[in-house]
Amino acid sequence: MSELFYLNKYLKRYKWHLILGFIFIICSNYFGVYMPKIIDDAADQLTLFLNSESKENNDLWSIGLHLVGLYMLFSLLKGIFLFCTRQTIIVMSRHIEYDFKNDIFLKYQQLNLSFYKQNRTGDLMNRISEDVSKVRMYLGPAIMYTLNVVVLFVMVITFMIYKNAELTFFVLLPLPILSFIIYKVSAIINKKSEITQKKQSRITSFVQEMFSGIRVLKAYNRSRYFAKQYDQETEDYKRASLSLALVNALFLPSIILLIGLSTIFTIYLGGLKSIHQELDYGDIVQFIFYINMLTWPFASVGWVSSLVQRAAASQKRINEFLLKEEKVINDGKNNLIKLEKIAFKQVNFNYQTKSDFNLCHLEFEINSGQSLGIFGSTGSGKSTVANLITRLYEIDNGHFVINGTDVKEFELDSFRKLIGYVPQDVFLFSDTIYNNIAFGLNENDVDLKDVKHAAKLAGIYDEICRFEKSFDTKIGERGVTLSGGQKQRIAIARALIRKPQLLILDDCLSAVDTDTSSKIQQQLSSVYPDQISIQISHRVSQLSHCNHIIVLDNGQIVQQGKHADLITQEGYYQSIYNKQQLDEVNDY
Ligand SMILES: Nc1ncnc2c1ncn2[C@@H]1O[C@H](COP(=O)(O)OP(=O)(O)OP(=O)(O)O)[C@@H](O)[C@H]1O
Ligand SMILES: [Mg+2]
Repeated sequence: MSELFYLNKYLKRYKWHLILGFIFIICSNYFGVYMPKIIDDAADQLTLFLNSESKENNDLWSIGLHLVGLYMLFSLLKGIFLFCTRQTIIVMSRHIEYDFKNDIFLKYQQLNLSFYKQNRTGDLMNRISEDVSKVRMYLGPAIMYTLNVVVLFVMVITFMIYKNAELTFFVLLPLPILSFIIYKVSAIINKKSEITQKKQSRITSFVQEMFSGIRVLKAYNRSRYFAKQYDQETEDYKRASLSLALVNALFLPSIILLIGLSTIFTIYLGGLKSIHQELDYGDIVQFIFYINMLTWPFASVGWVSSLVQRAAASQKRINEFLLKEEKVINDGKNNLIKLEKIAFKQVNFNYQTKSDFNLCHLEFEINSGQSLGIFGSTGSGKSTVANLITRLYEIDNGHFVINGTDVKEFELDSFRKLIGYVPQDVFLFSDTIYNNIAFGLNENDVDLKDVKHAAKLAGIYDEICRFEKSFDTKIGERGVTLSGGQKQRIAIARALIRKPQLLILDDCLSAVDTDTSSKIQQQLSSVYPDQISIQISHRVSQLSHCNHIIVLDNGQIVQQGKHADLITQEGYYQSIYNKQQLDEVNDY
């Protein structure tokens, strides 16, 4: 429960909605509770009329009209205030839901990359959608029904005790039992519906995965196997749904049974009292009304408590990351305008997960206008170095120095503005080619000329022009499918449109043929002579033009120097160079 305290700040923000809602609840209940009293009056006046001697029809009409009019007026007032209650409290819950979702989204954007590596995407999406909507059920319906039941209970009990305390006691006896049963049944229903939901989402992810892997599935001829698995999943779902339907079906009849029990009590005990002249008929009718009036709110106590429980569980999941104190990347004050030199000095780093990968004693230095090549076997730590340079991760110890000053002295944003980074697993949005390239800059700073220029530099311009809608071509799920090499070059264009002073290409020409990739590299060095570039590759030919090359193995620099020197030194670089030379000759 204490998890829900986090939401108090939102309740405070919308306190006027809550206070007004409470006042409306009091008003609507007042009119509601007064209505049986009108019936009681009607019964009393009718008895009086029947016992009177004149028995004029006009009298009966005037009594009837007066009471019916009053009853209708009170019903109307009750309805209006009920409407106002929902308009304040439920609306408040929607406002809070909106604020809360935005806050969670903001937090998501602040969290470090390592957080995303540790959590599954589906899980993160669930928290912002499903969990928040469960929390909203607490903020809206749960709070509203709780206030309602308290107000109604106080009012009705006062009225009933005023009429007859003993009868009140007996007829209220089944209500706590009712509440308890409903609480228990709701818990079972919740559990079962959660299981059903889980099975449902298993089916969804199963189908989703099948769609994404459809090429593999068809190529390996496994359709029948998948169909059988799907059958099993849906069978599980059907069983869970049927068992939920059974409990649901038992729910309503058991409530009706308990209400009936209270009504029988009232009639029986009320009848006895009426014989002894302690009560009249009107009072009994009024009591029956009250019982019915109390039943549903009481029934809702069980339901509400299960709502609160679910909300608390959801809030706990949300709090897990909302209250998480991330190792925030230090953000300095100095504005960085020009990159002249970047250097790593004795840098150590590990991912702080279970992986035993360590980057040790990393040292290099690059001046403006120079390029650094990073080479090494798979898993040797090349992309990790790129992550550290872009400050997606923070180094553990050692120094990361820019223009002779520690990088932490500079504002992170101003540093990132100077970087063009193309990650190894390129990602394009389901949007137009234009927007994907223009993403590299703010919307206002970009025009078609820049986009075209960047595309030309990345060697993709001609291919884009060949598409029917050229730069307005949609890519992704509902658009054209690009080849691996096209995707890579669009991602490069996105980095280049920033006119970056530091360009990091993480193995992002791997799907581009050797000729095209060397053409792109030549263009880049002539257009941006001052640029610092860091090139990561598995292909020796792509690094041959670099001013300096480091060779990594298991997180350590094992060789370094110029291409010409490295190919003469015995080692990993040379052996791969020889192999790749041979491959190229064979290709011819
Ligand atoms: N986010 C992460 N959390 C934990 N371990 C990671 C993470 N990213 C990479 N690793 C581990 O760090 C090691 C180095 O990974 P890295 O991606 O830097 O290799 P790489 O040299 O770029 O390999 P490749 O040539 O295949 O791209 C690997 O053992 C990998 O399992
Ligand atoms: Mg890599």
